[in-house]
Amino acid sequence: MSVDLETIVSLAKRRGFIFPGSDIYGGLAGTWDYGPYGAELANNLKNLWWQMFVTERDDVFGVDAAIIMNPKVWEASGHVAGFADPTADGRKFNTMFKTNIGAGEEAETTYLRPETAGGMFVNFKNIVDSMHPKLPFGLAQIGKAFRNEIAPRDFIFRAREFRQMEVEYFIRPNEWEAHFEVWRQAIQAWCRAIGLASDQVHELEVPEGERAHYSKRTIDFEFDYPFGRKELYGLAYRTDFDLQAHGTASGVDLSYYDEETKERFIPHVIEPSLGVDRTILAVLCSAYTEDELGGEKRVYLKFKPAIAPIKVAVFPLLKNKPELVTKAREIYQGLKKELGAVVFDDNGNIGKRYRRQDEIGTPWCLTIDFDTLGEQPELKDTVTVRDRDTGQQTRQPVSDLISYFNNLLK
Ligand code: GAP
Repeated sequence: MSVDLETIVSLAKRRGFIFPGSDIYGGLAGTWDYGPYGAELANNLKNLWWQMFVTERDDVFGVDAAIIMNPKVWEASGHVAGFADPTADGRKFNTMFKTNIGAGEEAETTYLRPETAGGMFVNFKNIVDSMHPKLPFGLAQIGKAFRNEIAPRDFIFRAREFRQMEVEYFIRPNEWEAHFEVWRQAIQAWCRAIGLASDQVHELEVPEGERAHYSKRTIDFEFDYPFGRKELYGLAYRTDFDLQAHGTASGVDLSYYDEETKERFIPHVIEPSLGVDRTILAVLCSAYTEDELGGEKRVYLKFKPAIAPIKVAVFPLLKNKPELVTKAREIYQGLKKELGAVVFDDNGNIGKRYRRQDEIGTPWCLTIDFDTLGEQPELKDTVTVRDRDTGQQTRQPVSDLISYFNNLLK
């Protein structure tokens, strides 16, 4: 269903996903703070990306490079000269954040990285020398990037501080088209894994003249946000632009000797670049659902269980019955130890507790009632499990709960 941006922004704040940055001071344009559920959602997405793009592969190496880099990096990469947006009066404004390193006269101007990519290109040689990878191989990184956007807008869509998940995949130049296609499909597979419907993600071939200075081919993966169809991710063929430039500027040989072809050359690069924050906005918009349940209107986030911030909520039917609360606490502790993202809630009536969990996208709620304690002997040590999407409840034995949820989370 379509949802307006205000609804998402207000749910995100009300339910502890995302707050305006420096909120009590009136905010700071283009900055956002993630609350408990937003941070959990971001971690789930980053972990899934790392699993799919690094851990499950044997040709991609994860790195975690410094955000502040030698300014020569950004001169060589073309960002000092070319990373600019036009301002309202037609002048060019470089959108890199300047900062100073060191004190007084000695201080040197440098920049916060505008893309995580730079930290990977400068480590190409370190990885070749330490890991001895065979082509093709990639470096991957998740981290913050900073851009002094002239007009930050549309919630976390265009921020001044945001996070990227990027791979720089080094290849033989004559194989670029085949690798580009494989990475195109990898991005599509990722979109499916996080629950974005295929009819919400659109590929746009970016025409020459609109591509970044380093790219010979770019596909933008666009998403239907409440404010229109806009970029979610990018896939670029960066040729040997970066390694050539850094090799020349640093004076360090960044060529690679290919044992297979017995040739020495500068590898070319395919780069899938995914924004964490835009991913969060896309999954929030895509998961947002309103329906009617038991004659009442409700709102829920239909997250894929794998990315949901909380997997299971545990409720004692009544707060003022110590035997129910004790049993519920015991089940809660057992599940939390195994599944991690489990919460306990005994506040308000059951209906209210379901609404709260629906709005943060918790796939399952457990209720411990008098039957759990043996009021009906045949139901002793069972609990009700309510499904978020259908509202339907089934009874499950307490002893099976861990394997029951682990199966559903696969
Ligand atoms: N290394 C390539 C690169 O940085 P980009 O298209 O400028 O390419 C890649 O950015 C991704 O980073 C975008 O597709 C988007 O997901 C995210 N991104 C870029 N600018 C952003 C901003 N101001 N706020 C939030 N996310 C942003």
